[in-house]
Amino acid sequence: MESELDYWSAKALLEWQVELGATEALLDAPVDRYALEDQKPKAAARAATGTEAPPAPVKPKEVDPVAEATKAARSADALPSLRAAMEQFEHCDLKRGARNLVFSDGQAGARVMIIGEAPGREEDLQGKPFVGRAGQLLDKMLAAIDLSREQNVYITNVLPWRPPQNRDPLPAEIAMLVPFLERHVALAQPDVLVLMGNISCQAVLGKRGITRLRGQWAEAWGKPVIPMFHPAYLLRQAHAKRQAWADLLELKARLSALN
Ligand code: URA
Repeated sequence: MESELDYWSAKALLEWQVELGATEALLDAPVDRYALEDQKPKAAARAATGTEAPPAPVKPKEVDPVAEATKAARSADALPSLRAAMEQFEHCDLKRGARNLVFSDGQAGARVMIIGEAPGREEDLQGKPFVGRAGQLLDKMLAAIDLSREQNVYITNVLPWRPPQNRDPLPAEIAMLVPFLERHVALAQPDVLVLMGNISCQAVLGKRGITRLRGQWAEAWGKPVIPMFHPAYLLRQAHAKRQAWADLLELKARLSALN
């Protein structure tokens, strides 16, 4: 049976509690009054208009740039469609600061494919790899072993967009652009890869240490690979040209042996 508290009993109970020292009327659990205040007008408005509560906001889906690049690169079945896939790739911030996509230069299908680091100022302006001072030295190095981009060399970079102030590429940038590079190699079908400097060694071989790696044949993506000093390094460190010359001769010998 439910007994209702009459006025006098309720008053007596309250007075007793006050006598015991109670100063506030509290509930068993705390109430967030700020949240209640916030909800009241919205709930009232919904009740007045008969509308439903809005759905909870949908969290934007996290994008994995490496997976996106892999998908885009795989979808390319020839060099022009690979270039187009890279032009449409929106997950690398370098693209927003660059004037041009620097895809390649030289002869697609050549036996030698050179992989540099990233475009500099001149390359960004012209949309071609190795056209600045380092590129001029590269052309001289190639000519010394009867190679040239006009006839028998194909050239690209790990990064197709110039990093701001020519800073080093970030590991995340390299990781998201490697799928395009690997596809580039598969579509260009060179006999050998030449890796210019540490960044291309990092991208293709997964390791740095050009002073140790240079001149040593390795294998990557099913191809023989030779790391060399980057021409930009040789411009600063003329003494290293002797080793670069030895590496060029090594490349020449390998090409003759593969003939
Ligand atoms: N250095 C590179 O690695 N690539 C270029 O295209 C130019 C300079």
